[in-house]
Amino acid sequence: MNKLLITGGAGFIGANFVHYTLNHYPNYQITVVDKLTYAGNPDNLKTVLDKIEFVTGDICDPELIDKLIADADIVVHYAAESHNDNSLKNPWPFINTNIIGTYQILEAVRKHGKRLHHISTDEVFGDLEIDDPNRFTEETPYNPSSPYSASKASADHLVRAWMRSFGIQATISNCSNNYGPYQHIEKFIPRQITNILRDEQPRLYGEGKNVRDWIHVDDHNFAVHVILEKGKIGETYIIGADNDHTNNKQVIEMILELMGKPKDWYVHVTDRAGHDMRYAMDSTKLRRELGWQPEFTDNLERGLRQTIDWYTQNEWWWKPEKEAVEASYRANGEQVVEKLANK
Ligand code: NAD
Ligand code: TYD
Repeated sequence: MNKLLITGGAGFIGANFVHYTLNHYPNYQITVVDKLTYAGNPDNLKTVLDKIEFVTGDICDPELIDKLIADADIVVHYAAESHNDNSLKNPWPFINTNIIGTYQILEAVRKHGKRLHHISTDEVFGDLEIDDPNRFTEETPYNPSSPYSASKASADHLVRAWMRSFGIQATISNCSNNYGPYQHIEKFIPRQITNILRDEQPRLYGEGKNVRDWIHVDDHNFAVHVILEKGKIGETYIIGADNDHTNNKQVIEMILELMGKPKDWYVHVTDRAGHDMRYAMDSTKLRRELGWQPEFTDNLERGLRQTIDWYTQNEWWWKPEKEAVEASYRANGEQVVEKLANK
């Protein structure tokens, strides 16, 4: 039985990966290491705590990481500071966890000769113009815009350098925007769903023309398993679900319709500084070479409906934090922009 060390397994995607693995790949023995920052929630794993080992700890702690990686066969590295808006307010945790933390993992992987899969994002490529028909591929040059994306780009460069210079056994994946259960309510989709559940209007940054290539978290995590099983050491794989035709405004309209509200029942708020326009992913390599296929392709509506149901049924999970999250957005200067009428 292979021993899997999952960093950041109490966060959104990592926790979903733990559940997905237990349900679909029962031959792994799982250890999670997570610092339990504001984004990590032990409740995300509470139904499976008897099936895994959970270690509260920091990936920047070299001794802890050395010991955990010495004990593991495979490391799947999700732990990160992940929210762009927070990186604009205070970049340091992003530099520390995303760069220094990844460095500590690489050094332990090198020392103990273990297999690593590094989880990254499409944001390392920067953005595309709104009408640009191109998509990001594994060959697209890096051009990050925010402290978050720059720290993830740095981490990817470190992984590649450790592969080339020290021959570590690693793969990298760059995935587009995820959605699904357990996503922190500071993020776009759960923020709007939980606003509506509280009878408050969704909040759209600027005009809402920005496009994200939305992928359901299970499709992302299935791709990670496919890469672990069939991926070629040293390779990078783009993960995307071909949903790059729906802009933020349309996503809000879909959520409103699915939740029985008028399509235009939302407000425009202050835009994000340096807001990336468009992300679009070309996952041909992953599909052709490894045979991956997402279940929710071209069916954002089905994925959104499932996600809305989850937040509706799990109010206990998000409600205690909702007021503080919204207060933090207000404290950071978010304001309703009156002059942008909903069109
Ligand atoms: P998240 O913020 O929900 O979870 C991050 C987890 O990492 C939390 O549990 C947190 O406690 C933990 N963590 C943070 N700093 C740590 C540290 N120093 N030591 C140990 N644990 C620490 O993030 P997420 O959305 O689940 O993203 C997971 C990974 O996937 C990240 O690497 C992110 O860059 C990448 N990614 C995210 C998306 C997305 O849409 N959310 C898309 C592509 C890639
Ligand atoms: P987000 O979930 O923060 O992910 P990312 O910054 O990684 O793309 O935001 C997704 C998109 O939604 C992004 O274009 C910013 C926008 N957005 C809003 O319009 N309103 C919101 O309340 C939030 C949080 C994001």
